[in-house]
Amino acid sequence: MKKTLILLVLGCTIFTTYAQTSITLNTDLAKTKINKHIYGHFAEHLGRCIYGGMYVGDGNTKIPNTAGVRNDVIQALKDLKVPNLRWPGGCFADAYQWKDGIGPKANRPKMVNVWWGGVTEDNSFGTHDFLDLCERIGAEPYLAGNVGSGTVKDLSDWVTYVNHPGGSPMADLRKQNGREKPWNVKLWGVGNEAWGCGGNMTAEYYANIYRQYATFMTGWTNESQLFRIASGASDGDYAWTETLMKNIPHNMMAGVALHHYSVLSWEDKGPSVNFTEAQYFKTMDEAWKMDEFIKGHCTIMDKYDPKKKVALIVDEWGGWYETDKEGKGALYQQNTMRDAMIAGLTLNIFNNHAERVRGANLAQIVNVLQSVILTNEEKMLLTPTYHVMKMYNVHQDATLVPINIESPTYEYSGKKLNAVSVSASKNAAGVLSISLTNIDYSKPHEVTINLRGEDFTKVSGQILSSGKINDHNTFDQPNKVAIKDFLGAKLEKGVLKLMIPAYSVVVLKVSK
Ligand code: AHR
Repeated sequence: MKKTLILLVLGCTIFTTYAQTSITLNTDLAKTKINKHIYGHFAEHLGRCIYGGMYVGDGNTKIPNTAGVRNDVIQALKDLKVPNLRWPGGCFADAYQWKDGIGPKANRPKMVNVWWGGVTEDNSFGTHDFLDLCERIGAEPYLAGNVGSGTVKDLSDWVTYVNHPGGSPMADLRKQNGREKPWNVKLWGVGNEAWGCGGNMTAEYYANIYRQYATFMTGWTNESQLFRIASGASDGDYAWTETLMKNIPHNMMAGVALHHYSVLSWEDKGPSVNFTEAQYFKTMDEAWKMDEFIKGHCTIMDKYDPKKKVALIVDEWGGWYETDKEGKGALYQQNTMRDAMIAGLTLNIFNNHAERVRGANLAQIVNVLQSVILTNEEKMLLTPTYHVMKMYNVHQDATLVPINIESPTYEYSGKKLNAVSVSASKNAAGVLSISLTNIDYSKPHEVTINLRGEDFTKVSGQILSSGKINDHNTFDQPNKVAIKDFLGAKLEKGVLKLMIPAYSVVVLKVSK
């Protein structure tokens, strides 16, 4: 739909044509919960995510910290309402020996991080440090178990160490190490990327050993206490999902994972800042593919599990560019308005697939890939992605409102993408939250939202936008990109109207 707007500027008449976005929200048909775990994060032993990032050690540092974790990071993560945090990898998980990361720090053996730069780590950040951090920020821990190079017993011992109440050798060891009560960790990954860094396995082989590892993760515990997640496909590898759904009993597998990164190409990932429109368009194209991949994997899951008991857990997603400065293994990158677009669009996609997508983890939380936080010595900044995740956290555990949308397209070099994406939810108090992302590189779009089903009278909102698509926060200018109030939405007789600027994210709050 197109509409011509007549503007009178200094006596001149300007005719401007805006493409129309037409949305209907069926507010009376809301029924599916948006699982808060869709808003999860991921912390791997990689570059400066843990060491020299969130963890500065409890020894010789001037940076204020609690048990070695920076206080500014703890506060920022609490404010973000992180529902779950995945650790210790990633590829690292399948090389990690958890028993080397417990007990007095001075006695812990060193290890070489074979996947990420071959750096030597001292194991000072281990199981207790991670699980205590999760308690401090109010997040559920999601432990990724070592299937690639660890034994069935190692993984079974880890479950017992963190979850058994007492009277077992592992629980006694935990108590000896200073933790009386179990942490009761529910979320467990059974390996990671088993088709690649997790062991280069075939799907059939992995499905078999999944059954073996998963069997011994239970033992004394009530099976329903553990939410075991199978290492899933990359992108559109539907055969992988099919083999797992067919060969693993569904009562042993609460979730199947999926990984998809918005990367230009693995050979040439392009810069994180100062990218061209061609690179921007390709990133958006990759971000939109999340929708296609989820639909494809869901179709297969529906075939084997029509009641949707097994969840799809997108436990790695985000933008991936060439590493800045710090060396190839570090995966440090800046985070611009382009990343805000990936986040807004992807979270809308997840929300709209809430029936099956019941968990996700942005890669990664600090100083690695599409981070929400960057640190440099004593300085810390929040990225545009942090702000989007914060604006969207109103959807956590709210009820998804079904939508119809007709979006204008964003066109580049003969290719088209939908420019505007939306998702909406209703919370327990009946307040509607509507999140909109306009990925268009240059055009604002006029949006009309028909609120069908219930009467609403009040609207307020927030916006994340900036003058240039490359805009980002720096340690000298940490608030260049920040959330602002949005006063541009008008609500009349059940119809909301607003103009959404190019490359911006708007979240509206609508109440009775
Ligand atoms: O997030 C970085 C890496 O990407 C992870 O370690 C791995 O699982 C994926 O390939």
